[in-house]
Amino acid sequence: MTYVYPPVSDKVPHMLHGADYNPEQWLRYPEVLEEDIRLMKLAKCNVMSIGIFSWAMLEPEEGVFTFEWMDQVLERFAANGIYALLATPSGARPAWMAQKYPEVLRTEKNRVRNLFGFRHNHCPTSPVYREKTKIINSKLAERYADHPAVIGWHISNEFGGDCHCELCQAEFRSFLQDKYGTLDELNHAWWTTFWSHTVTDWSQVESPAPHGETQVHAMNLDWRRFVTQRTVDFVKHETAPLKAVNPNLPVTTNFMEFFEGLDYWKFADVLDFLSWDSYPTWHDADEESNQAAKIAMMHDIVRSIKGGQPFLLMESTPSLTNWQDVSKLKRPGMHLLASLQAVAHGSDSVQYFQWRKSRGSSEKLHGAVVDHVGHEHTRVFQDVTDVGTALERMDKIVGTSVPAEAAIIFDWENRWAVNDSQGPRNIGVKYEQTVQKHHEALWKLGVSTDVINMDADFSKYKLLIAPMLYMVREGVGERMEQFVKNGGTLVVTYWSGIVNETDLCFLGGFPGPLRQVLGIWSEELEGLHDRDRNGLRLNGEGQLGLSGEYEISEICDLIHLEGAKSLGEYTSDFYAGRPALTVNTFGEGEAYYVAARVGASFQDDFYTALVQRAGVARALNVQLPSGTSAHLRTDGEHDFVFVQNYTPEAVVFPLDERVYFDLESGQQIGSQLQLPPYGVQVLERSRS
Ligand code: GLA
Ligand code: ZN
Repeated sequence: MTYVYPPVSDKVPHMLHGADYNPEQWLRYPEVLEEDIRLMKLAKCNVMSIGIFSWAMLEPEEGVFTFEWMDQVLERFAANGIYALLATPSGARPAWMAQKYPEVLRTEKNRVRNLFGFRHNHCPTSPVYREKTKIINSKLAERYADHPAVIGWHISNEFGGDCHCELCQAEFRSFLQDKYGTLDELNHAWWTTFWSHTVTDWSQVESPAPHGETQVHAMNLDWRRFVTQRTVDFVKHETAPLKAVNPNLPVTTNFMEFFEGLDYWKFADVLDFLSWDSYPTWHDADEESNQAAKIAMMHDIVRSIKGGQPFLLMESTPSLTNWQDVSKLKRPGMHLLASLQAVAHGSDSVQYFQWRKSRGSSEKLHGAVVDHVGHEHTRVFQDVTDVGTALERMDKIVGTSVPAEAAIIFDWENRWAVNDSQGPRNIGVKYEQTVQKHHEALWKLGVSTDVINMDADFSKYKLLIAPMLYMVREGVGERMEQFVKNGGTLVVTYWSGIVNETDLCFLGGFPGPLRQVLGIWSEELEGLHDRDRNGLRLNGEGQLGLSGEYEISEICDLIHLEGAKSLGEYTSDFYAGRPALTVNTFGEGEAYYVAARVGASFQDDFYTALVQRAGVARALNVQLPSGTSAHLRTDGEHDFVFVQNYTPEAVVFPLDERVYFDLESGQQIGSQLQLPPYGVQVLERSRS
């Protein structure tokens, strides 16, 4: 495993700390721009993302470019040790462009073209939009790609959405032609004989529409794949002119939390590093540790997409958002706690939306480092400065790895398919929550976990978890068999192995290609009402030796043993006594099948036993107090353990027998660790 990666830029071998910065909103206020530099230094910020929505200020009329303001900003940055992630402005287009070339605007799925407005309101296929993007990107690259202050490209902003215009329809058809070759193949893959939906000419294919087709599941899947492909293609289109000028300046685009619309895995090869925007809802009714676990999973996804390479936290709010249902202020300590969580999971930055609150329009009340009051004497500014201070001490963590021995599959295509499936529980199959609950059990144990898709290499892990792997793409079953044969531990749950990659059900018995490795046959699947309960009674059999009873809800799979051994049975209904948890010894390894949705306490007990049995490392070999987490990064010689308390109470607990130093002070730590409410401490120890 690679333990150390280069920083995003050699120019800044430090943790990055900064924000989205919109000087173009303040050109009439030169004193504000001057003051910004002073405040940035005071807040220990070393990077700003600029130009994200600046197209109208960069090209106020077609072919007329005004870069002077940007020149000045970058000059000031260079003179003050501040670096820039320079954005391409395609996230929003100028009014003149929409007026002169309406085709650049997006056509919604109801086939109505939008008016000018919002952002990301563009057609990714429009030759005009592509040409205009190419021109502005080329100009930016020519002028700034070798600028001393510029360390990377921020392509557009939070790509999302789809366009259904005629140009995009034509692209969709050619995407399908490339994929299927003949209409016969397409008709079979889409099972169009159902309801007489057979397509007899390519021109009959239309994207899904509320007043048209929504019921051909394989077509819905292909449309989503196409939208991802179009977006990735647009990113490539944006990147080409940038790379033509300076191939070494790295590119990223910022992802959104669990965004369903794009298969983020497909961006791995077109981006040099990944980044994402994190907006947890701290201090709502939920326990903070549940929020933390959820955010941890997204960090783990983004890190895993590029095989473990550190990423950047591109946006987070320094205080509150203005779009969540209720915007609670971060309690003292929470800002540092949340910020360092990103670092613990592999981020080499903490960045914010936004540097300074805009004066008007829809985000004028969104949190920012600098409030409308305009000075540094605020709680938020101090919180931000504290993060800057903490990050300054973390040079040796830059580029280090998260050494994951466990992986959990969260696959976008599977997600699309299972959410569209129309099966035993249409009031909610909860794919996302299910994966997250399995991930959370490992998170609580302090197990470093990659979150991968089903195409990733399984061989580097000891423990592989596949919750609700409804779709199994070709070759995945064989790779799982190989993984277990070689000694791996596999966990699969109910509703797995149902369809292939075009959503055709496997014939000959579920869970299809996973049947052999799991040693079971699933004959029937029952959905439960929210009010229904069954139970799992563990029988103490097997190497885990687990006993006890747990609650079952939502989905029950009625299975037969085909070589697997039952570890626990259903407690009620006509299938009481039938297996609900099984293990199959397969080659050197073991494959577990969890046949029903069992409560969180089962997950905790099950994974505690399994992690131990599979020999998966934990950050600390101690029982952490509830609501506390420990996660680590390593350079191969030293481990940096981030211990975090997500509760409003102080916690004290004994450390394991290794020798620990406090990263901040360098002092050796005694046998106990004490954390204040919402406290965080980074410990250093030798890895060997
Ligand atoms: C997103 C966008 C930003 C801003 C923030 C507000 O992350 O990228 O431009 O709108 O949300 O939270
Ligand atoms: Zn279009």
